[in-house]
Amino acid sequence: SRVVVLMGGPSAEREVSLSTGKGCAEALREEGFDVIEVDPGVTHAGAELCAQLSEIAPDVVFNALHGRWGEDGCVQGLLEWLRLPYTHSGVLASSLAMDKTRAKVALKAHGLPVVDSVIAKKEDVCAAHVMAAPYVVKPNNEGSSVGVYLVNEAANGPPQLSDEMPDEVMVETFAPGRELTVSVLGNRPGDPGALTVTDILTDGWYDYDAKYKPGGSRHVVPAEIPSEIWDACMEMALRAHTALGCRGVSRTDFRWDEARGLDGLIILEVNTQPGMTPTSLTPEQAQATGMSFGALCRWLVEDASC
Ligand code: DAL
Ligand code: MG
Repeated sequence: SRVVVLMGGPSAEREVSLSTGKGCAEALREEGFDVIEVDPGVTHAGAELCAQLSEIAPDVVFNALHGRWGEDGCVQGLLEWLRLPYTHSGVLASSLAMDKTRAKVALKAHGLPVVDSVIAKKEDVCAAHVMAAPYVVKPNNEGSSVGVYLVNEAANGPPQLSDEMPDEVMVETFAPGRELTVSVLGNRPGDPGALTVTDILTDGWYDYDAKYKPGGSRHVVPAEIPSEIWDACMEMALRAHTALGCRGVSRTDFRWDEARGLDGLIILEVNTQPGMTPTSLTPEQAQATGMSFGALCRWLVEDASC
């Protein structure tokens, strides 16, 4: 069948998405699909995208977009209008997960532990410490650690945020500890569900470079952690996927403060369009459970709906 792989687009994570998209397109071709790559470009040309998709009339749209417009419910809404089945989460789960603060409210309501945070005006954040250091400032709606500032105890003053940062930002208590992550593939009976736990080791901060430069971080999969923590991660990731109403694949990121045992495990966020680049976590987790990259892409296509 004919599959359009949507990639690129106008978000800050454009390059990551192009890498995800190229890899998925190639894998789907090898799986025997008739694949057409579509990049909506950087100019928010929604009308053009509609025209292009209507003309191609694919059986499925594989959404390999990351960040704003592609991960936040916007393109999902457009695909609903066009009645084109698409992969990954629908409109509501996408927009909810992309709004980190509102996603936390939903996760909390389901009894899941999240990191305390507030939304603050950029000018207030630059003028004085909004909370006691250490804390983290991030856009409320970006991924791949774009625009993330760590303010540690030794900081002389409040962070000076770049001009590109939005007028309102999220200020979050710094959650210390190990960086663990779990991908979930569906939550219905028969779906793979929670795949495995990866422990991400970096020399410093798991930032953009550490995420996408080969060798920028080391992934231990399956993570060498106590079974109690392992089980909690697997269970919480599945519950988080369900709590936000995700579809297809999601990836829940955790911090685990070892010294505090189970109480030290906390959810950072849920990603509805987890990266599928050569250095990304989700394909590696699938591989670790015996699912090849091609099989993962195929599963997503077969799971598509609208
Ligand atoms: N935002 C990136 C793509 C991720 O979550 O993997
Ligand atoms: Mg993210």
